Amino acid sequence: MSLVLDAAAQDLLFREARTANTFSDEPVTDEQVQAIYDLVKYGPTAFNQTPLRITLVRSPEARERLVKHMAEGNQAKTASAPLVAILSADNEFHEELPQLLPHFPQAKDAFFSERPVREQAALLNAALQAGYFIIGVRAAGLAAGPMTGLDFAGVQKEFLDADHTPLMVVNIGKPGEDAWFPRSPRLEFDQVITTV
Ligand SMILES: Cc1cc2nc3c(=O)[nH]c(=O)nc-3n(C[C@H](O)[C@H](O)[C@H](O)COP(=O)(O)O)c2cc1C
Repeated sequence: MSLVLDAAAQDLLFREARTANTFSDEPVTDEQVQAIYDLVKYGPTAFNQTPLRITLVRSPEARERLVKHMAEGNQAKTASAPLVAILSADNEFHEELPQLLPHFPQAKDAFFSERPVREQAALLNAALQAGYFIIGVRAAGLAAGPMTGLDFAGVQKEFLDADHTPLMVVNIGKPGEDAWFPRSPRLEFDQVITTV
């Protein structure tokens, strides 16, 4: 009774949502991706820096190049998912800050003139946005399969540049047969929450 989100939405986003390991052939359209992005772009980041960048791997040739960099146990999933996205952090996000923070454009130089500071901020905030993205995929009635079992240096070299740090690859689509591993337990409230 404490949550205002209706129970069906709670199930869709969390309770019944699972990490898919197989996918049906049903395509994931650019319109669906646009709708997902237009929802999750409102998730908060520090200074509204929104450093997440998303590379959609659509062509069979690009998919083949990506699969080579996935850990062995992840290759079949990435090869067969209707859509695969590479999520990365833009370490040069400060270039967009005057657009993103119009009431305080000086933040670009006042806080983010140094690359190591940007890299740390980009990693945290893009990872937050990756979480929003996964929940957004679920909001579109699709399943996500996020993966960090991959050769990050290889993915960076093949698909990104030195200013973008790969975070994870996400398989996206409707679940196929035997899509789920057994649900693993979660920590209970008392194991996680302390009040001081
Ligand atoms: C950042 C991240 C990285 C993951 N990496 C892999 C991976 O490399 N291979 C894999 O099979 N599953 C991977 N997973 C899937 C997790 O094991 C799965 O989401 C978790 O056990 C919860 O499963 P459930 O959603 O079915 O309850 C990853 C998940 C996340 C969020």
